[in-house]
Amino acid sequence: MALDTNITPPTENAHPLRNPYRFFWHVSRPHAGWMFFAIALVVIAASISQLTNYFYKFIVEAVERGDVSSALWWGMIFPAAMFAVQVLYRCSGYVGARWTTHAYKQSVITLYHHATQHSHTYFSNRFSGSITNKIRNVVGAIEEVIPDFLWGQLTSLVAFVTAFAIIVSVDVGAGSAFIGLLVALIVVNSLMAKEKARLSKMSAAIGTRMQGRVVDTFTNISAVRQYTQQLFEESTHESLAEESRTAKFKNWMYTERMLLINSVVLFFGTGAMFWRLITQWSAGFISAGDFVLVLALTANLIGNLLFIGRAFNAMSRTLGEMREGLEDIYVPYDIVDADAAQPLQVTNGTIVWDDVRFNFEANTVFDDFSLTIPGGQRVGLVGSSGAGKSTFVSLLLRQHELGAGKIFIDGQDITTVTQDSLRTAIAVVPQEPLLFHRTIRENIAYGKLDAPDDEIEAVARKAYAHDFISLLPQGYDTLVGERGVKLSGGQKQRVAIARAMLKDAPILILDEATSALDSESEVAIQKALHALMAGKTVIAIAHRLSTLREMDRIIVLDSGKVVEDGTHDALLSYGGVYGRLWEHQSGGFL
Ligand SMILES: Nc1ncnc2c1ncn2[C@@H]1O[C@H](COP(=O)(O)OP(=O)(O)OP(=O)(O)O)[C@@H](O)[C@H]1O
Ligand SMILES: [Mg+2]
Repeated sequence: MALDTNITPPTENAHPLRNPYRFFWHVSRPHAGWMFFAIALVVIAASISQLTNYFYKFIVEAVERGDVSSALWWGMIFPAAMFAVQVLYRCSGYVGARWTTHAYKQSVITLYHHATQHSHTYFSNRFSGSITNKIRNVVGAIEEVIPDFLWGQLTSLVAFVTAFAIIVSVDVGAGSAFIGLLVALIVVNSLMAKEKARLSKMSAAIGTRMQGRVVDTFTNISAVRQYTQQLFEESTHESLAEESRTAKFKNWMYTERMLLINSVVLFFGTGAMFWRLITQWSAGFISAGDFVLVLALTANLIGNLLFIGRAFNAMSRTLGEMREGLEDIYVPYDIVDADAAQPLQVTNGTIVWDDVRFNFEANTVFDDFSLTIPGGQRVGLVGSSGAGKSTFVSLLLRQHELGAGKIFIDGQDITTVTQDSLRTAIAVVPQEPLLFHRTIRENIAYGKLDAPDDEIEAVARKAYAHDFISLLPQGYDTLVGERGVKLSGGQKQRVAIARAMLKDAPILILDEATSALDSESEVAIQKALHALMAGKTVIAIAHRLSTLREMDRIIVLDSGKVVEDGTHDALLSYGGVYGRLWEHQSGGFL
């Protein structure tokens, strides 16, 4: 199976938002005010918090002097200062929450907007579950990264810088030991961060694959039951779960190793610093108060350090997940509007295929295919299964790029007009209509969002859908189930027909539009469809030839070539493929 959830390697014209940092800035920029405000508050709160360590010094010095009132004074101010720091942090919480939630909303919108514009091929090649999962990973990462940054990395950074300044002011030697410690920590952590990010990305990728597989299984749950393959599905799921567990475990063990190495560095760094301080104190260069000050700072930082290790880890993990998602969501679009794309101007709906070549990888579907359908003509397209009929429709809708040749609508090359205008001009009843898990009314109104209820009902009547809809418990307000599972095949087709009727586009394509209906309903709908066809260019695809009898022209496709082309009567008297098929069907069916 070619369903791939692998990470695509960056290409030359890589989208800038594939980069997590750029994406981060992109979603924060519209609310940059909150961002800078939050950063400023955290910087202030964290520096004041570090400065409160001076209270230890002042209290110890007062105690040394035996100055009770001074000790009492500093002792009382201390909790007040702590409280002020807390208040500042809560303010940063308020502002940070604004930034985070806005960035969250912005990322949801940005990703959704970008993903929905991917081509048909993009979606065909991926599990919809994995695309959803990727979007969720990126959005989740944004929600985690901002708090981690603000109250993790940034807080620690400020703590380290202020601590460094204070320690240097006490003793330059101890300050140098401290900076040495810091540099060692940064070097160690950044050396390890890359591997950590790789492990996280791998773990996220396996998670995504498992998720996609689960959604695929649930989507096909009736096939699983029908073929009693639950055990097979479970065993595949189990091996993916094991793969995922191993990846998570490896990732975790790497974290433990990072933390352990941090502790070793810390041990040597603080050891050196204390050695220096004790010798300086015994030589009388620094006071007991200063010594306590540095002690308090260091004790504080050790807690912070474990925290920063975690924050570093969490950041690498979330960035890894984010990258995994972004790299797949921001692959270049397969099909883009030309720079100077103009809206398609439909005059009479003439369709011309000029030497079109198209292949799905090694499978050539059309080769030097040329065909002219004059505006307003109703054409029946016939051909064996796999002949390329549905592909013909996809290509006309520009869901794939042609290998060679051109398709024109009213003289305009479809690659030079905007995709939206092209698709607006064509109403399609697809071979396998899928419905939204919304009400029937909403599903029909998708052809024209502002259609009033009576118009919706009118098209439903024309599509012979009104009767069955009226019998449903909530009528037009009945939810149809995911992909329309609560409706029968024929009911779905009628809803799809009603929707296409409502769209009322100049070009109408019916791909086996009535194949799931009983003959009686089919005849009735054919009448309604014929009324709808008036004045439009129509391409109707059908295996049941009786439904194409009224067409102006029948085209028989075989291996991507037109093998017969003429009216129903002409083709019958010609006695070729169509004639044989007709004979066969009227013998068998009618
Ligand atoms: N998304 C795709 N990726 C790869 N190959 C495809 C894809 N869609 C169709 N094909 C191949 O293209 C060929 C034409 O398929 P198409 O769906 O156009 O046939 P059709 O004439 O509509 O058949 P049917 O009467 O069964 O609907 C087939 O060989 C099919 O396997
Ligand atoms: Mg088909």
